Amino acid sequence: MTRPFQLSIIGVLALVLMSGCGPGGNDGNKVQMPRFNEPQLAEGRSVWMGTCRACHLMGAAGAPAVTDYEDWEPRIAKGMPALYKGPLNGIRGEDGKYKMPPRAGNDRLSDEQIKRAAEYMVASVRFLHAQTDGD
Ligand code: HEC
Repeated sequence: MTRPFQLSIIGVLALVLMSGCGPGGNDGNKVQMPRFNEPQLAEGRSVWMGTCRACHLMGAAGAPAVTDYEDWEPRIAKGMPALYKGPLNGIRGEDGKYKMPPRAGNDRLSDEQIKRAAEYMVASVRFLHAQTDGD
């Protein structure tokens, strides 16, 4: 049951590696981002799609990809309140430059919207992990 999904993830990764970010706007479209019924997660999804997806879908710019459970596991363990801080305040690398800019670079987002997006991302990481959990 889980095998075809795993294969498709690998296929998508290979495709994206080969095609880069072409003008087709087709990067990573094959990762099916889950939909949840909870209104907060539904709101988070639309924020995530608009602002967070660019880095967190495939792991651009050193961001933990939604499909990279190993990278997320220790982060999720910190709990949501701690996880909100990164996207709200930004996260700097050792060189002092922002790896993730404050408010994920989108000043139009409210604190609530950023939190909902973070919640949606964590729910999605878990969901996608459960789908591919073969080992
Ligand atoms: C410009 C790229 C970029 C965008 C856009 C972006 N992020 Fe990130 N995000 C990163 C990077 C890079 C990291 C890893 C930073 C690190 O741990 O060194 C990260 C890490 C995180 C983490 C984990 C923080 C932790 O404490 O481990 C959360 C949560 C997060 N981002 C949420 C979001 C949300 C929510 C959005 C959209 C509102 C978003 N990000 C948009 C680049 C981005």
